[in-house]
Amino acid sequence: MAVHPLVCISSFCLLPLAFMLDQDSTLDCVPRRSVPYHSESAHIFHEEGVSNYTTMLLREDLGLLFLGAREAVYALNLSDISKKQASVKWEVTQQQKADCQGKGKEPETECKNYIRILHKMADDRMYVCGTNAYNPECGYMSYAGGKLTLEPGEDGKGKCPFDPFQSYASIMVDDDLYSATSMNFLGSEPVLMRSSSSPIRTELRNSWLNEPTFVSMAHMPESQQSPKEDDDKVYLFFSETAVECDCYNKLVVSRVARVCKGDLGGERTLQKKWTSFLKARLDCPVLDSQVPHVVRDTYRWCDPRKHWKDCLFFAVFTPQFDTSQLSAVCSYRVGDISKVFAEGKFKTPVAVETFIKWVMYSGDVPVPRPGACIDSEARQAGITQSLDLPDRTLQFIQDRPLMDQAIQPKEGKPLLVRRGPAFTCIVVQQVQAKDGGKYHVLFIGTEDGMLLKAINHGDEMFIIEQVQLFPAPHSVKILRFSKDLIYAGSDYAAVQVPVATCGRSSSCLDCVLARDPHCGWDDVTGSCIAISATERGLIQSVKEGDASLCPTAAPVPVVNRSISPSENVKLLCASPSALAISSWEQDGRHLTSSRHLQLLPDGLLILNATESDAGLYRCVWAERSKGRKYVVAAAEYQLSMKGDSRSTPEARRAGASMAGWQTAVAVLLLLLLALLAWNFYSGHLPLPRMCGKTRGGSDGSRDHAADHPDPTASGWSEDKLLVPSSHNFRSNNNHTDGNGGKEDDATRVTLSSLQFIDDESEI
Ligand SMILES: *[C@@H]1O[C@H](CO)[C@@H](O)[C@H](O)[C@H]1NC(C)=O
Ligand SMILES: *[C@@H]1O[C@H](CO)[C@@H](O)[C@H](O)[C@H]1NC(C)=O
Repeated sequence: MAVHPLVCISSFCLLPLAFMLDQDSTLDCVPRRSVPYHSESAHIFHEEGVSNYTTMLLREDLGLLFLGAREAVYALNLSDISKKQASVKWEVTQQQKADCQGKGKEPETECKNYIRILHKMADDRMYVCGTNAYNPECGYMSYAGGKLTLEPGEDGKGKCPFDPFQSYASIMVDDDLYSATSMNFLGSEPVLMRSSSSPIRTELRNSWLNEPTFVSMAHMPESQQSPKEDDDKVYLFFSETAVECDCYNKLVVSRVARVCKGDLGGERTLQKKWTSFLKARLDCPVLDSQVPHVVRDTYRWCDPRKHWKDCLFFAVFTPQFDTSQLSAVCSYRVGDISKVFAEGKFKTPVAVETFIKWVMYSGDVPVPRPGACIDSEARQAGITQSLDLPDRTLQFIQDRPLMDQAIQPKEGKPLLVRRGPAFTCIVVQQVQAKDGGKYHVLFIGTEDGMLLKAINHGDEMFIIEQVQLFPAPHSVKILRFSKDLIYAGSDYAAVQVPVATCGRSSSCLDCVLARDPHCGWDDVTGSCIAISATERGLIQSVKEGDASLCPTAAPVPVVNRSISPSENVKLLCASPSALAISSWEQDGRHLTSSRHLQLLPDGLLILNATESDAGLYRCVWAERSKGRKYVVAAAEYQLSMKGDSRSTPEARRAGASMAGWQTAVAVLLLLLLALLAWNFYSGHLPLPRMCGKTRGGSDGSRDHAADHPDPTASGWSEDKLLVPSSHNFRSNNNHTDGNGGKEDDATRVTLSSLQFIDDESEI
């Protein structure tokens, strides 16, 4: 078996199955913490009767989030999106609806106006486009005096799809709209175009765009500090049916394409068409998968102090056939992409018998290089704009827009591969931690409405937490962030959550093992807080998760419990981490699960207690971090058997009915005995040769009826103490996370996929 390009090789991920599996278990990389939907930490925006909240424009200058939905645009308060500052309806007219219906479309869904484009213009207005009942339209929107006004009326063809289910991508650069979508009613004419005083677009050829699904666009300021006086570029990410594939079935591949900002098209050849449209395959190798994964969303990340070549594109990928359920994140250096376009070989079509095969072009490449922007070299040759380009160059690129070389991710492998609900979108933030290190924090939206927060450090992927964004599992359709807040949109609602909620960690150990670059343990207040909240030194260890930095904690108090024979007892012991494994000991003896003793994710269940169950119980959670093991003595219980055998209310009820039944039997037996005695006495029956003992009267079970409920049986407090192997650690409060169920889920997920992994490795 080949070495898999795995990234998530943290011992955390291996932990639950450390003894059973190899690296493949990292596919089931479990978020350390699972946070259910919480209306207190999340602000949600949803308006009755309105759906599809899937377009966003952040306006930090106005303190507003513009949200495009079906037939409406909202201006929401950026610090609390549940506060609507203004809104404007953009509904289709009765006539438009009738026309749309007349063309065979569904009046209540397809014949509505879905907002697809929201961009800021230089003059502070916004450019808005909607599908408008299969009649795409654009217009200008302004926000003034707390009011939103909309002036529609511009043709939206080629900017916004006709069909609300068709893909689109767009970007506004210097007030020119670059858009990629389909420009006809049937959705059969894909286009990448620029709407400006000199509009320009792609050729309608399969070799340019072949049944594409558009994903995203980004602008790269490549003219900056360019010794060659290169032009700015606009990048387009999409997937399409591969023309170059020698395969029987249709195969979808991911692509990155780019055009030059200053492109004006050719003079005769490629008139009003891009002369700089180049595309390359985008690879994200997921395990040994033979079928490429498909790009779903990208995020452009740049360090403002660094060269544009060091900008990164983070992209999420999902399988094209739903069988593997493996989603991945890959990152690409812009310098690597740009190099392939600037220096790489081209592919060229050749006719082989009855079909066309795409192979590497090895002939002479004309000068100026096909697809290149106009740079100083071209200018020296008297070519000052694309209109001056020679036909040879233009014809070359018209026939061969595809590069031979594929774009490989940084380090040649994904940052994260995870089995489970598909990833849908991504945003990335760089956070400077207390150790001075800068970490890329990935926020990934999923199909089941989760927000994963993950870091990748030194080849190791770690999922800090997963947060349920919506009250129900709605697919995350868009993600944005501004400062300390993440905004997510779905068909159902838009929601805002903080980038970090450090307070979820109640102990130093939990705070440090969470490895969240946003959070650190403040020993002064004894709480886990945002590193931005204080100038004080905080305990944090993002790289190592080194919890030995934590101060010594007080020992865990022993909880006394008395139990009755045959009682069922549950001793609670919850962990804030899904990566910790619990173990129990009784009087220093390690306990294993049996019919009588059940080790549950959140505690120990003793069924039908007996004398031998009395003793000192200790619950220990062990969590591994970078090879180190931290052991947390989370709870201790002294169990003693009651002399008068008191029991729980259930047992008492059961005992009562049992006792009643036994009394009745006893009375019946006594009656029978009396009857027999009378019969023998009267001589109606002969005496038997052997006389079996007749049991009569009541046994001990009757005592249950007089029992008192055990005061500790319910609503007891659980005391936690965190103790690493060598020292003691103090826990600050008696905090129960209540995420036992989640841990249960996590365990189940990993175990159920065991079989699957085995199968795959056998291939
Ligand atoms: C948003 O709300 C905050 C307080 O909740 C307020 O101070 C601020 O002015 C609001 N922003 C806008 C743009 O209205
Ligand atoms: C709009 O939202 C509804 C659910 O409210 C969903 O069924 C539908 O697919 C969405 N339409 C589009 C075009 O995304």
